[in-house]
Amino acid sequence: MQRKTKAVLLLTVGIVVLFALIACATQQIAPISQQTVAAPVQKAEAATAVKAEPARPKSLYDADIKPLTAEECARCHFSTFTQIKNEGGKHKIDCVQCHTIYHAYNPKKQNWDQIMPRCQTCHGNIHGEKFTACAECHSNPHAPKTQMAMTAEFAKVCGDCHAKVSKELQANPSKHTKVQCAQCHAQKHGYIPACMQCHKPHTQGQKNEECLACHPAHNPLKIEYPETTKNPVCGGCHAEVYNKIATTASKHGQVACAKCHPKHRYIPKCEDCHGKPHGEVVLKKFPNCLQCHTDVHDLPTRSK
Ligand code: HEC
Ligand code: HEC
Ligand code: HEC
Ligand code: HEC
Ligand code: HEC
Ligand code: HEC
Ligand code: HEC
Ligand code: HEC
Ligand code: HEC
Ligand code: HEC
Ligand code: HEC
Ligand code: HEC
Repeated sequence: MQRKTKAVLLLTVGIVVLFALIACATQQIAPISQQTVAAPVQKAEAATAVKAEPARPKSLYDADIKPLTAEECARCHFSTFTQIKNEGGKHKIDCVQCHTIYHAYNPKKQNWDQIMPRCQTCHGNIHGEKFTACAECHSNPHAPKTQMAMTAEFAKVCGDCHAKVSKELQANPSKHTKVQCAQCHAQKHGYIPACMQCHKPHTQGQKNEECLACHPAHNPLKIEYPETTKNPVCGGCHAEVYNKIATTASKHGQVACAKCHPKHRYIPKCEDCHGKPHGEVVLKKFPNCLQCHTDVHDLPTRSK
């Protein structure tokens, strides 16, 4: 039942389209024959006869040409369109809002700069008078934020906008203070390097997040680590102590390095954790617990 009505509908539509096509074809031919034969008369008639003859077929040049839509631009400039779609950010606006002039480039006139949109038209000198050569940094207007190549000019001015980072590096002298921002943040603006691009890890399999947990990138000598830091991380540099703790029979074997040494190079006091385990007399006589307990990383135990 439904199929039948569909078939009938299709047939009717088909017939209507056919008639429309025939009508179009005759109309299209008509103006051309009129143009060639009756052209001289047309001008004279025009002034008087416009209103009287509204149905007269239009000349080709009377056609109401609509401007291209962005979709139509996109059909030819597919890669540009796709780039704006993916990386354009807030530049996902109609092409002609920027390209008020287009298809006007003339290699003889070398007029590229004249016809191309100017950033300042919409943004002015948004970062002040120092940064007026927009394309030095925003190298692709169709991807204004994601494609910012590290040009030499760009590399000189990081501190203008990132004063805090710049100050942090200066205030905490380390070998990173002498490394150029753009040597680490190479490639493009916003790129974050991995430490392992330039360094070897202390222990195999160490991850980048771990490096950062101990070493702030802009103050790498300010070493801080969480209490949960695993012993092998320390063991990479303190193999002897690490091996002792790993094999000791004492209960200190269960205490993490980072628990006793919450800061690098900090030496804890036994009393921090144990208070006063023995009588005053003993402790007065032997002020250093290790006089009897010998090695904190491998305490002598009863079973030993
Ligand atoms: C925010 C403004 C802006 C928008 C929106 C924009 N463009 Fe552009 N476009 C520019 C500028 C500026 C240049 C000149 C770049 C240069 O000189 O290298 C340009 C260059 C071009 C070029 C020539 C250079 C090239 O990259 O091939 C084409 C083609 C182009 N645009 C097409 C488009 C199309 C198509 C759209 C819309 C889908 C569009 N643009 C949207 C600003 C814009
Ligand atoms: C029928 C295909 C076609 C359509 C539609 C089209 N372009 Fe182009 N466009 C070209 C070709 C071909 C070139 C020259 C080669 C090139 O640069 O890719 C060009 C060049 C350009 C250029 C750089 C040179 C110049 O003289 O401006 C811009 C900008 C541009 N087109 C923008 C647009 C915009 C905006 C639209 C839509 C409003 C559009 N185009 C629609 C084919 C097309
Ligand atoms: C026709 C106007 C127009 C032109 C020309 C134009 N822009 Fe924009 N741009 C905009 C608009 C609108 C926004 C969104 C602004 C907002 O939301 O504050 C924008 C946003 C941006 C952003 C931020 C993008 C984001 O996703 O956050 C950057 C960067 C930018 N423009 C750079 C440029 C550069 C560089 C040029 C020259 C190559 C340029 N613009 C030319 C209209 C324009
Ligand atoms: C020295 C490099 C440099 C120059 C030159 C430069 N910009 Fe930027 N611009 C940047 C950086 C970096 C950002 C921040 C990008 C981000 O947020 O990831 C930015 C951001 C922007 C934004 C977005 C602002 C916002 O608040 O979201 C606009 C718009 C913009 N620039 C336009 C321009 C225009 C217009 C010019 C030329 C008059 C220009 N820029 C020159 C480096 C530059
Ligand atoms: C015109 C101002 C401006 C200049 C110049 C500038 N930046 Fe930025 N930068 C910004 C802005 C704005 C942001 C975005 C801040 C945010 O998201 O909090 C940013 C973000 C960053 C980020 C962080 C990206 C992230 O994922 O958090 C890095 C890294 C960065 N910039 C490095 C640099 C370096 C290196 C230079 C010099 C080569 C530089 N910037 C020059 C404005 C600038
Ligand atoms: C030795 C490499 C190195 C140098 C040199 C360096 N950075 Fe970084 N920077 C990094 C790393 C790694 C991160 C990521 C830090 C994180 O995720 O905790 C970062 C993060 C950033 C960030 C985003 C986070 C934040 O702290 O605001 C900005 C902005 C930044 N750097 C700017 C700069 C500037 C500006 C300079 C130069 C004055 C610079 N950096 C020098 C490696 C470096
Ligand atoms: C682009 C290369 C580069 C990157 C990326 C980098 N560094 Fe460095 N780092 C250096 C250089 C160069 C030195 C000086 C090395 C030397 O003299 O042997 C250095 C030195 C150091 C030092 C010793 C500082 C001193 O003053 O003695 C530490 C710690 C350090 N880096 C940690 C890190 C960490 C953690 C990361 C990741 C957040 C990192 N680095 C990323 C280049 C880099
Ligand atoms: C548990 C904390 C910790 C972690 C995680 C850590 N480091 Fe270190 N790092 C240190 C300590 C402690 C030093 C020695 C500082 C000193 O000499 O006083 C150091 C020194 C360095 C040095 C200076 C040169 C050297 O080898 O002595 C570099 C470079 C370095 N670390 C890079 C890294 C990198 C890259 C990672 C990640 C793979 C990383 N660190 C992870 C604590 C850590
Ligand atoms: C990159 C190598 C490195 C790593 C990783 C490292 N250290 Fe160190 N550590 C050193 C260096 C170098 C010294 C200074 C040694 C010296 O002065 O003889 C030191 C000194 C110490 C000292 C003080 C020693 C003394 O004689 O005063 C303690 C305690 C210490 N580290 C504990 C740790 C702990 C706990 C960890 C893990 C969280 C750790 N270290 C990770 C390199 C490292
Ligand atoms: C960060 C805390 C901490 C510090 C600092 C510390 N200890 Fe302990 N110690 C422990 C813990 C936890 C145990 C296990 C206690 C238990 O299981 O009852 C322990 C156990 C012991 C034991 C019993 C050993 C065993 O295997 O039965 C002795 C002895 C001891 N500590 C001596 C010391 C001495 C001496 C110092 C200083 C050189 C010291 N401790 C520093 C936490 C600490
Ligand atoms: C129970 C607490 C405790 C634990 C757990 C512990 N330490 Fe210690 N560590 C100390 C104390 C207390 C000293 C000072 C010893 C002294 O004065 O002779 C010390 C001294 C050191 C020293 C300097 C003297 C030496 O023996 O080389 C280093 C390095 C060190 N510890 C690293 C580590 C590392 C790495 C770990 C984990 C593998 C670790 N410690 C685990 C308490 C601890
Ligand atoms: C004169 C030697 C001597 C001195 C000094 C000494 N101890 Fe002991 N300590 C001992 C002996 C012996 C034991 C019992 C050992 C056993 O039971 O295996 C012991 C046991 C302990 C225990 C284990 C207690 C338990 O209940 O299992 C702790 C904890 C302890 N000592 C901490 C310390 C601390 C902290 C200091 C320094 C303030 C210290 N000792 C100083 C000799 C000493």
